[in-house]
Amino acid sequence: MNHLLKLQDLTQDELYKILDLADQLKAEHKQGIHKPYLQGKTLGMIFQKSSTRTRVSFEVGMYQLGGQALFLSSQDLQIGRGEPIQDTARVLSRYLDGIMIRTFAQKEVEDLAEYGDIPIINGLTDYAHPCQILADLMTIREFKGKIKGLKMCYLGDGNNMANSLIVGCLLAGMKVSIATPQGYEPNAQVLEYAKGYDCFELVNDPKVAVKDADVVITDVWASMGDEGEAEERKKVFEGIYQINDELMSLANPDAMVQHCLPAHREEEITTSVFEKHADEIFEEAENRLHAQKAVMVLLMGDNKNS
Ligand code: CP
Ligand code: NVA
Repeated sequence: MNHLLKLQDLTQDELYKILDLADQLKAEHKQGIHKPYLQGKTLGMIFQKSSTRTRVSFEVGMYQLGGQALFLSSQDLQIGRGEPIQDTARVLSRYLDGIMIRTFAQKEVEDLAEYGDIPIINGLTDYAHPCQILADLMTIREFKGKIKGLKMCYLGDGNNMANSLIVGCLLAGMKVSIATPQGYEPNAQVLEYAKGYDCFELVNDPKVAVKDADVVITDVWASMGDEGEAEERKKVFEGIYQINDELMSLANPDAMVQHCLPAHREEEITTSVFEKHADEIFEEAENRLHAQKAVMVLLMGDNKNS
């Protein structure tokens, strides 16, 4: 494992290695132990989109690991004025020990990895959100005691979250059921990946998808970059693609709920469901810190190939 660009690049063993280390780092953190696995190392964090959780958890995580993080807004970098990503990658590789990037096109992330020679971590693109799904899987195991064999249902837009949940949950050994409106399906490459699994289904009706689900997940109807379509999307999603009490009554009685946040209450999730499952949702947000620390130790630590 040299980068974290998308979850398709991981084996199941690599995925569980990250989750196991994340659990270990969380346990150490709770005891106030912060071993300096990344002493003297620097992570550059390039943001072309807004962030609360990703920015803060990476920055704090790097600090707890004995290193430092640099926040690099694309507005201030020469990237914003057209310097090619290929050149940026080659320059930053000479200063930094790793880069986390949040941007629009997945290709930019892949290009950084191709032209640079330091680990690249995808902090969200239009295509994927791998760090979030690592935190989700970690949280599922924490609350359910296991991952394999459980059923994950995602309902809503076939966006970066849907794409990465499909890949990550299948890779982890879960059954996956997705409900999206027609025209808002997950990415075609992801659906191709899912064809290799017989425990995957894609439907339009959330009531069908949620049956017997152990974990129910949704995300905003309009992601960053889709703001101009918000009204049009609202008409398509409203009243159907929402986690509410009625929908939850069709899932397993002890089903948990995950939301990557930020949430739009009364749109994709009701306040009632959100508050009933707030412990699970905010543990998921906390686990971004631990999961990403594990990723950084494995990619940037001195024993990264052991
Ligand atoms: N879930 C998530 O990635 O949150 P931010 O956009 O706040 O980083
Ligand atoms: N799908 C959302 C996730 C935000 C964390 C977006 O891309 O805006």
